[in-house]
Amino acid sequence: MKFVVAIDGPAAAGKGTIAKAIANHFKLSHLDTGLLYRGVGRKALAYSRTSYYPEVAKQLALDLKSSDLESSELRTPEIAEAASKVALIPEVREVLLDFQRSFANQDGGAILDGRDIGTVICPNADVKLFVTASAEVRAQRRYQELISSGHEIGLENVLKDVVSRDKRDAERTSSPLIIAHDAIKIDTSSLSIKDAVWVAINCINEKYKAAFLLK
Ligand code: CDP
Repeated sequence: MKFVVAIDGPAAAGKGTIAKAIANHFKLSHLDTGLLYRGVGRKALAYSRTSYYPEVAKQLALDLKSSDLESSELRTPEIAEAASKVALIPEVREVLLDFQRSFANQDGGAILDGRDIGTVICPNADVKLFVTASAEVRAQRRYQELISSGHEIGLENVLKDVVSRDKRDAERTSSPLIIAHDAIKIDTSSLSIKDAVWVAINCINEKYKAAFLLK
């Protein structure tokens, strides 16, 4: 049986936290696809002013290794910004597409979270969730995360970053952030992590059981 869950949503919506908890609950492998873009974004920052030229950025994506995805530095706001700039480049998205599709196609299936999973990467996913929250709530959560991991940053700047990335992600021509027509929207603005995970598990449960019965 192959069971695929696609989770999309704007910056800092809690997709990763929910995806990890669901992966654990349903015993599925999980891929945080944002890490791929962050990995390329980190290389772009370290490389040169030409990093955002399509051919240069494409090569940076082709050179991405699994060890590039392990750095704790990937979580900084600077790298998030660079990630959203390389994510505009169709050549970069094309290079990263095969890896994401093969991950989704593994035996048993998988959970992928990102921006275009339900629309482009896994349009036939068994369940599609669109996880969102107000920009203020998302900024507050990301601010807490950054502060607790030792970053010095103000809430205002975090909010600015979240809003400008959302705009860039939603307005780009290549695989923009949009809600898939068959996705279930979960607004976590007033939900605790535990409640948001509970809602997501309930959205998946029925389809998961049906997939097992059909096996
Ligand atoms: O954790 P957060 O939601 O802030 O960001 P992320 O998921 O790590 O993604 C960082 C950036 O990568 C996003 O702002 C997008 O520009 C880009 N991205 C994308 O374009 N497509 C994906 N499937 C995942 C991330």
